[in-house]
Amino acid sequence: MVGDLSEKSFEEIWNGPMMVKIREQFLRGENTMCKGQIAEAGCNKLNYDLLLESNDFSPIQKKMPIRVIPNFDGKCNLRCPTCDHPELKTNAYHSEEFQELFFQRILPGVKQLDYYSGEPFVKEFTFELMRKAADIAPQAEWSFNTNGNWKMTDSMRESLDLINIRWIAFSIDTLDANEYAQLRKYGDLDLCLRALDQLIEYRRSRMLQGKGYFDIFNNAMFHKENWRAFPDLIKFVNAKGIDITFSFLSIPDEMSVLNLSEAERIQMLEFFIDSLAAVKINYHAYAVISCVYHSLPAIERVRFSGQIQQLVRSSAPPRTAESTI
Ligand SMILES: C[S@@+](CC[C@H](N)C(=O)[O-])C[C@H]1O[C@@H](n2cnc3c(N)ncnc32)[C@H](O)[C@@H]1O
Ligand code: SF4
Repeated sequence: MVGDLSEKSFEEIWNGPMMVKIREQFLRGENTMCKGQIAEAGCNKLNYDLLLESNDFSPIQKKMPIRVIPNFDGKCNLRCPTCDHPELKTNAYHSEEFQELFFQRILPGVKQLDYYSGEPFVKEFTFELMRKAADIAPQAEWSFNTNGNWKMTDSMRESLDLINIRWIAFSIDTLDANEYAQLRKYGDLDLCLRALDQLIEYRRSRMLQGKGYFDIFNNAMFHKENWRAFPDLIKFVNAKGIDITFSFLSIPDEMSVLNLSEAERIQMLEFFIDSLAAVKINYHAYAVISCVYHSLPAIERVRFSGQIQQLVRSSAPPRTAESTI
């Protein structure tokens, strides 16, 4: 965390020592502060071209932020055991100072709003923000990660109608209802699958009204508890006509598949190769398989290399970097 608004002013944080150091490191191409995340998620390679034209490449920023992740309370209706986004016990964001800062000074210049933590569609604030941004920041493009545990209402459709949507990613990590309820504590797979269908239908009706297309895809976590779901998830998205990305879980460390024994990782690879023989896979699925493959010693990799090369040849290119998370 680079600062807390209940302790410092926005200016003190935005151009404070931590932010300046991060910017200096990125500008030199030698980032150490987010080294782990960059190695695992390649988050430095996301395509922010849309933002480049208005960027100011200096350690001290005169401009206000142009991309915001608007999670002001961490609120969520589920309690996934993997998640490190606790609800925040703060009222700082409801203060008059914050309202003035966010709605009057930051929001008018924002180009992208990206909901990546907490659950966006269970918070009234998300819909309030959509209504306000329609007036204050009509240029902003929105993206959402959602657990899908909600029902689409007319009021939700009306709010979504007001904004430009880049993409909405669902987080479905298994298609087994019991396993889902464990991985997504308090979650309901049927409710989530219904929300996915409702959103696909909403996109269709939105396009009939002449509004732009937006992408819907599944972003599945991949870890020790759900790796067997991997082939079914790929077949599921293929049948739905949507795309898929994967978060290769490495925190908490004990849930990573890389912590399984070598024999289990070999069994996993054999299972993937068998179950995906006639299935179209994309680059992201291939990247997960490749990670497991490369975790094995060279002597073991030799016997899989022909099949792995076959998977590379048959895998579709990555999603556009812009929509990859
Ligand atoms: C923190 S959630 C917030 C958005 C929304 N509540 C959801 O679950 O999609 C964003 C993404 O992080 C994923 N996630 C949860 N725990 C994770 C972990 N330990 N490592 C990597 N991704 C994780 C979720 O599956 C989800 O796709
Ligand atoms: S649904 Fe999303 S924000 Fe909520 S606990 Fe799960 S991963 Fe975290």
